[in-house]
Amino acid sequence: MINLQPTDKIHDEERQGEALVVDAPLVRNGRKLYIESYGCQMNFADSEIVASILLDQGFETTGDYKEADVVFINTCSIRENAEQRVRNRLSQFGVEKRRNPNLIVGVLGCMAERLKSKFLEEEKLVDVVVGPDAYRELPQLLAEVESGHKAINVLLSREETYADISPVRLNGNGITAFISIMRGCDNMCSFCVVPFTRGRERSRDPFSILVEAQDLFEKGYKEVTLLGQNVDSYKWKGNDAGEDAAIEVNFAQLLEKVALVSPDLRVRFSTSHPKDITDEVLYTIAKYDNICNYIHLPVQSGSSRILELMNRTYTREWYINRIDAIRNIIPDCAISSDIIAGFCTETEEEHQETLSMMDYVKYDFAFTFSYSERPGTLAARKFADDIPEPVKKRRLAEILLKQQQTSLFRLQHFVGKTVRILVEGTSKKSDKDLCGRNDQNAMVVFPATAGVEAGQYVNVHIDRCTSATLLGTIVN
Ligand code: 5AD
Ligand code: SF4
Repeated sequence: MINLQPTDKIHDEERQGEALVVDAPLVRNGRKLYIESYGCQMNFADSEIVASILLDQGFETTGDYKEADVVFINTCSIRENAEQRVRNRLSQFGVEKRRNPNLIVGVLGCMAERLKSKFLEEEKLVDVVVGPDAYRELPQLLAEVESGHKAINVLLSREETYADISPVRLNGNGITAFISIMRGCDNMCSFCVVPFTRGRERSRDPFSILVEAQDLFEKGYKEVTLLGQNVDSYKWKGNDAGEDAAIEVNFAQLLEKVALVSPDLRVRFSTSHPKDITDEVLYTIAKYDNICNYIHLPVQSGSSRILELMNRTYTREWYINRIDAIRNIIPDCAISSDIIAGFCTETEEEHQETLSMMDYVKYDFAFTFSYSERPGTLAARKFADDIPEPVKKRRLAEILLKQQQTSLFRLQHFVGKTVRILVEGTSKKSDKDLCGRNDQNAMVVFPATAGVEAGQYVNVHIDRCTSATLLGTIVN
């Protein structure tokens, strides 16, 4: 039995192997699990794996943390403000814990991995800290907590893909679902904490991915999003079930196999990397109608010098070449991006290069961030975070303004046209309206019509738009 008091100074890695020694925990019939996720889609997908592992232990999930026996917070470390949000939420759980001292509070995901046992020292209310590759140990770790001890497992793995675990779909609409196809990242972008918190890149067995896609389709799902930090470097080597010959599957081949599950199953994917996205992937997208014409291709910066400092391993010219290839091979493809304002040493001219890149690509959508130094990353070790906050803010505002104008320009292009929508459910603003996305991932809102429900494909005539939404009427 491994007991970790908050003050223990045992190396986390040393403890991991031992964690397996804990007696098999009791099945906890009827106990309630509340799980809240922050950060990227990968974290949301991981929470569904966590729920599956605990449901096997007899837990039920609840949407109200005040009635839970176990509260998990699946955390994000990507920027400082993401971590601050988690800490604020933890203090709210602390209030509940004072009311109900039996409540178990667990921290999962990237912050657990980054801070390790420091978390148990800093946040006294936390009982259990579990990194992204250790979720199979959750039953044993909870058993440790129940026997009166703090518990931690933050061992990263080179193999774990949770391939055999069938995720429990949490808060879903029953129509769209995520499928994790790989874990970790080997890229070492200098600003990014992910390689440290999620470990080495590994690809999941394609057969288990296909089984999951098929199963979702049979349950009525109509869209899957294949997830990985860098899907273009998906590579699986192994034996085909029952065959002796070794086979290799790359991302283009995986996309094709998933697309073939059914023409009525839409396939999306995220995130693509400019250095790895191949023409083979683009031709596969063009070949299948059900692979959506939408690529998230983060540029981060439009300046080759900054890209080099970021260790992105491509130049402005290379990125433009990839954009041109997308436009040539998939003419109506939507493209979105991630952009960082104010990276170390970025000059005003280099910021202008980012704006001119945005003018060139005319992104349909962009996630925009101001650079946030993360402890332990290459950039934190090598470069000063020397762009003053007000300058970062101003550059970010300029990027945001340009993106709003470009998003509006892109959406206006659909006005007057008829687009095919997968209905996802009622609109957030009014239950008299339905919503869904078109092939290019634009959100479309239209009046509900008798006989039309979530999961159906419908044609919608676009009457007008805002900078974020298309508004229209059903035409069939
Ligand atoms: N500061 C700001 N933005 C960051 N991102 C990753 N790390 C940082 C950081 N330290 C952004 C990148 C990445 C997205 C997921 O988050 O743009 O693509
Ligand atoms: Fe981070 Fe770069 Fe990997 Fe994306 S590709 S997760 S930005 S290291």
